[in-house]
Amino acid sequence: MKRVVVSEVVSSMPETKRGSAAGDAVNHAADADFSQAVIAWQEQHGRHALPWQNTRDAYRVWLSEIMLQQTQVAAVIPYYQRFLQSFPTVESLAAAPAEQVMAHWSGLGYYSRARNLHRCAQIVVAEYGGRFSADPAVLETLPGIGRSTAAAISAFSYGTRAAILDGNVKRVFARVFGIDRFPGEKAVENAMWERAVALLPETDVEAYTQGLMDLGATLCTRSKPSCSRCPLAYRCVAYATGRTNELPVRKPKKAVPERHAHMLVIVHEDAVLLEQRPVLGIWGGLLSLPEFPVTSSDLDDGLMPKAEIDRVVQPLGKIDAVTRLGSFSHGFTHFKLHVRPYRIDLVRRAQRVADDGQVWYPVSDLVDAPLPAPVKKLLLSLFATRDLLS
Ligand code: ADE
Repeated sequence: MKRVVVSEVVSSMPETKRGSAAGDAVNHAADADFSQAVIAWQEQHGRHALPWQNTRDAYRVWLSEIMLQQTQVAAVIPYYQRFLQSFPTVESLAAAPAEQVMAHWSGLGYYSRARNLHRCAQIVVAEYGGRFSADPAVLETLPGIGRSTAAAISAFSYGTRAAILDGNVKRVFARVFGIDRFPGEKAVENAMWERAVALLPETDVEAYTQGLMDLGATLCTRSKPSCSRCPLAYRCVAYATGRTNELPVRKPKKAVPERHAHMLVIVHEDAVLLEQRPVLGIWGGLLSLPEFPVTSSDLDDGLMPKAEIDRVVQPLGKIDAVTRLGSFSHGFTHFKLHVRPYRIDLVRRAQRVADDGQVWYPVSDLVDAPLPAPVKKLLLSLFATRDLLS
């Protein structure tokens, strides 16, 4: 894998961004104060009795690191213990039937991890004599092991001097160094890797690595970090500038698709026409107002869709007045709906009742009607003074 050096990354950025993606230093000079603060804190306040600590058995370390990807320590512990009971060695895991491995993983989530774990065990047994390499570059070629996991396994199992960079460490870096760009951006992530490598201490890599993990998990938490107890607060840019809430920068929101619809509030005497919505789709099964899409041609001109209104209203009665109401928008998870409502008062209602699924609903009952919230809000604001409060 090609790794971009920090100087390239930074020089390709706009001037105003320089220094922010990479923090304040481009050539990450040795910074022993950082690692020494982390190590001293880990020794005094970090975690020392987790089930996968105090061992150099690379099989156990590997197993724990895979389980700890995207999963919290407390959830992992019972799984880790059951797994080791059933599969005490990499050979026993490699030889186990896939269903048995999956059954042991069941409930931990992200099941591709279990499939990769099993394949990885088989490769380690078949190609490496059952021994995990001390070289992170070799570990990284195995299924389920990325760069950060490879570094953690080799540091904890063999004391290899290799840098980790998981989500917790990115958060610590983003805050301490005031990195105000989204860490998911490739250039920002590359710069963080450069920094992670430059910060590695010459010795005590295990305590340092564990310390970074512990800091991220216990003090430098996503919300409400415990800065008063943090050994890096004295040099933390986010702390000094009151930006622990804003850093790391969150993933920029994707633009959601927009839809536009006309809605008709058809009124006769003390009733309004509502329709049952199809069970599938938005607002499924609720009552709502008759609605039809805004076409691209009437998107800009803002004219009333007269022909459409006639088509919907004609079977119902004779129009007295059409009034344009204020537009509103409603956000769904996958799109945003912009609504243009019209009030249509009828002088006369046709003899026949409304179509299947349509109902003349008494205005006085709207408060309890099964309506989508924005539609109810519109109707209540429309009828509140004249009808409901009378
Ligand atoms: N998260 C990832 N690796 C970990 C470890 N070894 N200890 C605690 N939390 C972790």
